[in-house]
Amino acid sequence: MNPSKAVALLIALIGLVSACSSASSSESDPDSEPAAGPVRDGPDDENEIPCAPRAVLQKTCQQCHARPTKNDAPFPLVRRSDILRRGRNGSTIAQLVIAQLESHAMPLAPVTMEAAARETLLSWVRAGAPGVTAMTCTETKANQESPIVDDVLH
Ligand code: HEC
Repeated sequence: MNPSKAVALLIALIGLVSACSSASSSESDPDSEPAAGPVRDGPDDENEIPCAPRAVLQKTCQQCHARPTKNDAPFPLVRRSDILRRGRNGSTIAQLVIAQLESHAMPLAPVTMEAAARETLLSWVRAGAPGVTAMTCTETKANQESPIVDDVLH
């Protein structure tokens, strides 16, 4: 092969490779979601989260992890499916949530939470974030953080 043909072939190859990579990067944008995979919305099953942990998510975590997210939070923590889906490295968001709560890394300042609220959310997620029959939590219940009080009112 003469040198000019080799150069032409090389240029063609580079063109081909870059065309392919730009095509695939437009499909999924890995930079937009560093902490978890791209958010593929699961079912809208927020009402299957038991009232006590749902209230903690709403009152504390959703100051940032809302839908859409606020304050640079990487993903929403609103629906049960938000917690059950996979994050980065094959771990589930549930596993990331447990790690963040155990290490007290979340909630980020200036938001704080009571130890009881942390325990309420932790024990539900540790149990595998089990769902309940879809139900509406009343305002009063939503403001409570203790599952014991919640049970009494049921
Ligand atoms: C004041 C805003 C704010 C609040 C409130 C907040 N977060 Fe976050 N969270 C962030 C931001 C910003 C990030 C990404 C940067 C980081 O990881 O520090 C994040 C990241 C995370 C991550 C991913 C960490 C990882 O492994 O990459 C998890 C899980 C998480 N938050 C859980 C929670 C939970 C659970 C709560 C409620 C108890 C909560 N967050 C409350 C702002 C917040």
